Amino acid sequence: MIHGMAKQQGSGSRYREIADRLEQSLRSGAYKPGQRLPSVRILCRNWQASITTVVTAYHLLERRGLVETRAQSGHYALPPSSPPEPEMPPNRPTPTDVGLGQLALRVMQGSLDSRLVPFGIAMPDPALLPSDEIHRLLISIGREHASGCEHYGVPPGSRDLRMAIARRCGGFGCAIGPDQIVTTAGGLEALTLALRATCHAGQTVAIESPMYYGLLQSIEALGLRVIEIPCHPRHGLSVEALREALDEYEVSAVVSMSAGSNPLGTRATDEAKRELVGVLSDKGIPLIEDDVLGDLAHDQGRPRPAKAFDRDGSVLWCSSISKSAAPGLRVGWIAAGRYQAAIEHLQFTNAVGPSPLTQEVAARFLTGGGYDRCLRRARRAYAERTAAMAAAILRTFPAGTRVSQPTVGFCLWVEMPNDVDALDLYAAALRSHIAITPGQLFSAKLRYRHFIRLNAAQWSAASQGAIVKLAGLVAAQCRRQHKGRC
Ligand SMILES: Cc1ncc(COP(=O)(O)O)c(C=O)c1O
Repeated sequence: MIHGMAKQQGSGSRYREIADRLEQSLRSGAYKPGQRLPSVRILCRNWQASITTVVTAYHLLERRGLVETRAQSGHYALPPSSPPEPEMPPNRPTPTDVGLGQLALRVMQGSLDSRLVPFGIAMPDPALLPSDEIHRLLISIGREHASGCEHYGVPPGSRDLRMAIARRCGGFGCAIGPDQIVTTAGGLEALTLALRATCHAGQTVAIESPMYYGLLQSIEALGLRVIEIPCHPRHGLSVEALREALDEYEVSAVVSMSAGSNPLGTRATDEAKRELVGVLSDKGIPLIEDDVLGDLAHDQGRPRPAKAFDRDGSVLWCSSISKSAAPGLRVGWIAAGRYQAAIEHLQFTNAVGPSPLTQEVAARFLTGGGYDRCLRRARRAYAERTAAMAAAILRTFPAGTRVSQPTVGFCLWVEMPNDVDALDLYAAALRSHIAITPGQLFSAKLRYRHFIRLNAAQWSAASQGAIVKLAGLVAAQCRRQHKGRC
C-alpha cells in the first residue's frame, strides 16, 4: 500500500536539477562572488534544455540568494550566506481532503523496533528525560491513599496540575489562570478537542505546511478539509499567504505551530504572532495553537505562545510534556478561551477525563524545580545535535540536498533531489536498519515526496555511519531514476 501511494506523486523538474547543479558549483567555490556565470545560451546547449527551463533555473537561484541578475549583462555569483535550506512550496493553497489513511500508523509501527537507528519517530532522547524522578513520583503517589486511582478525573482536571501550568505560563509572559485550563491525555487529545469544538465535518481548516501528521490524521478522521499554507524554513507560517487564502475561502479555524514547528523546527517572532492573532480575531476565526515543542527552544528563552497576544478568547493553546519530560505519561492541556466549556463537555463525553494519577505526577514534577534543569540540558544538547547532523547530511547527501536550521526541538527537515521518493527510501532504510520519516506524511495530499524528517535527538559520533549509509541509499535512488545524472 505504501508503495502505491508513492506512485501517485509527480515527477521531477529539470530546471531544479540545473539550479541544484549550479548551486553545488557556487557553494564549492567554483565561482567567486561577482564572477559571471554561464550564459543562458551555453546552459541550453550543455543541458539540452529550453531557454525557459534555464531562465527558470536562474530565477530559482536568485530566490535562493545565490545569484544576481544584471540587465543586459547576465547572471553573477553572490556569496552563499548560509547552508542550503528547504524551499517554500510554490503551490497556491486551495481546500482539499486529507488522504493519509493508515499511512502514518503503518510508518510509525514500522519504525518502533528498538534495534533501528532512531532517526524516525519524533521521540526525545531517553537519556535527557527526567525518568528517575518521574518513576519515583509514580511509586510514591501510587502508594498514597486516595492517590487518584479510586476516582474518575473529571474535566477540567487536576487543580494542582492546572496551577503548576498557570505558574509556568506566567514565567514566559502568558497570563493564564488555572481556571482557564483543561488537562488532557497529551497534546494530540488537546488538538483534537480544539478541532471538534471549532469545526464541523465538511468545513475547512487552514494549517501550516508542512504539518505534524498527527494533526492531519485527526482532521481526516473528523471529516474536515484543509488548506495548506506555506511556511518559510526559518520564519514559519506566511501570514501573507494565509491572509490571501482567508480572503478567498471560508475557513472555520487555523492551526499554527508558531512557538515550535514539527517538522521545520521554526519559531515565529512575537510580531508575527501578534499579527496572526490580530488578523484572525478581526475575521472571527479561532486559532488552534500547537505548542508541544516551545519548551525546547534552543536559545533566546522560551518563546511566548500566540496565546499571549489573545485579547478575546479566540486562541486555543494546546501543549504537553511529551517532548520535554515524559511522552508515556500522556499529560497535556488546553487553554481554550471562549471554547473552554465546549472542550470540557467534549472531553467528558469522550473518555470522562485523563488519568488522575498521571496528572498528579506531572503536577508534582512541574512544581519541583527539576523541570527547568532538565530543559536546560536538553535545549543545549538538541541545538548541538541538530547542527552536527545537518552538517553530516550536507557533507554526504547528493548535490541539491537542503536541510532546515531548527531553533526549536530535535528534528531536521531534509529536501533531497527531486526524483527521490521518500517512501521508497523509507523502505530501503528500514532494510538497512535505519528508521526515517517520509515527507509525504506531512501534507494532506502526500506532497513532500522528496523530503524526509530526521530525528537528531540521539545523535552521536556513532550516528555518522548511518548517515553515510542513508546518503548511499539516496544516491542509489538518484542513479536509478536519472541514469547517473544526479
Ligand atoms: C507538533 C506536535 N504536536 C502535537 C504532538 C502530540 O503530542 P503528544 O505526544 O503530547 O500527544 C506532537 C508529537 O509528536 C507534535 O510533534
